[in-house]
Amino acid sequence: MTTIAEMSKALRAGQKPAYAGNANTRAYAAELDAQDPVRHLREDFIIPTKQMINRTSLSPLDSEEETQQSLYFCGNSLGLQPKTVGEYVRAQLETWASIGVKGHFKALDHPATSPIPAWQDMVAGCAKQMARLVGAASADEVVAMNTLTVNLHLMMASFYRPTATRHKIIAEWKPFPSDSYALESQIQWHGLDVAKSLVELQPDDNLYISTESVLATIDEHAAETALLLLPGIQYYTGQLFDIARITAHARSKGIVVGWDLAHAVGNVELQLHDWDVDFAVWCTYKYLNAGPGSIAGAFVHERHGQVAPKAAATTNGTSIDDLDVRHAGFEYRPRLSGWYGGDLGVRFNMAKTFQPTPGAQGFQLSNPSAIDLASLSGALAVYDKTDMKTLRNKSLALTAYAEKLLNEILEEAKSKGDEAPPFRIITPANPAERGAQLSVLLRDGDILAKLTEAMNNADIVMDQRKPNVIRIAPVPLYNTFSDVYQVVDVLRSVLLA
Ligand SMILES: Cc1ncc(COP(=O)(O)O)c(C=O)c1O
Repeated sequence: MTTIAEMSKALRAGQKPAYAGNANTRAYAAELDAQDPVRHLREDFIIPTKQMINRTSLSPLDSEEETQQSLYFCGNSLGLQPKTVGEYVRAQLETWASIGVKGHFKALDHPATSPIPAWQDMVAGCAKQMARLVGAASADEVVAMNTLTVNLHLMMASFYRPTATRHKIIAEWKPFPSDSYALESQIQWHGLDVAKSLVELQPDDNLYISTESVLATIDEHAAETALLLLPGIQYYTGQLFDIARITAHARSKGIVVGWDLAHAVGNVELQLHDWDVDFAVWCTYKYLNAGPGSIAGAFVHERHGQVAPKAAATTNGTSIDDLDVRHAGFEYRPRLSGWYGGDLGVRFNMAKTFQPTPGAQGFQLSNPSAIDLASLSGALAVYDKTDMKTLRNKSLALTAYAEKLLNEILEEAKSKGDEAPPFRIITPANPAERGAQLSVLLRDGDILAKLTEAMNNADIVMDQRKPNVIRIAPVPLYNTFSDVYQVVDVLRSVLLA
């Protein structure tokens, strides 16, 4: 049979994998699972049992039913809990209980995390773990801080500096609502008119935005555009944008480029440094599995993170891109500042002059939650055991398998003589233009209600966007080909009824 490696190779080359005749069987899915090189990583997660997923109280479970697992397909919204999260969080609670305030600077030995870092070092630790996932040149380009929308605002405070001529932001037609609110409120906060300063890329009839149309819009508005802000993966359609090409084009026109990577990080391979992205933001509760509302991440390209003593910068002619001279002593990119952006070497001197930590970590404001950081670090410990190329290889195969089985439902519906297809996949068919998620637009009517009932009955957790989109997200860290088979089988029973 075709191996996962062969499937992903074909998919990376833009071809459909060759499936055996029995591809639409439980046995075939099980064979794929047996040769999955990262199948052991599922063991690192708490997969909710059917009993757990239907829980109405935290009183002890009936252990007899404990082995029946639910089918969790919602990692694009909230990832499952890695077992290490509990270990790392408990270790920090124990540290706090044991040594109190000394935990800020004292690292303790711990069997799971060995050693458990001092709280002051945890952000740098998480940055190191995330740097690999986003393709940063070093951990200095990455920070764990705040939450996604807050970071979007902080980044725009630094990177959206509209002038009379360059005031526009190029975004897309349907950003995640929080991004829309952030973009519009930033424009308004600068005293500008959203109708004149926000440019929205429009999709075609299939809700697809081609790279060519993005580049053409950039060309049309280049002279007036200050910022391009797009999602790496569009949350509704699941389209993965060509981040490298779009970034290069916009930057060549003097436009600052930022990306919201909420749906891309931990999902697809990223090379933010090499792609020359100015900044990026992401949350950590989807594919990174750090828990609901957990501390978020941001990337700031190294060219924007430099900090130089003012005298040195003026005397030796160091050129630091787009800098203001701040206060008495240092030159650095303007930003909204707080004491935790201050260099660790002097942070506790309580000086009046702000001396930022070089790099992305100089954009922090407050003392971050060590519990949040422990949760993130524990979640990233799973990623420390693998790499994005391996995960993406499985993901390409897993998502293509889901697509193949869904397309078979469409063929069956057609051969049964159904007038209109029961659904349409609005995520691009090109594997290079999507991540793990397939968005399925259901035919008008009451299909969504029927599907929801069937999924609940089968203990499937899947995300819906009203009025009629379901988003299927097989996550390579913990979902299997058998999961995909079972879920599509339930969908088939409703969609062909
Ligand atoms: C693309 C995108 N942007 C922004 C957000 C908002 O994130 P937060 O509530 O963490 O600020 C989300 C949340 O799911 C999202 O998917």
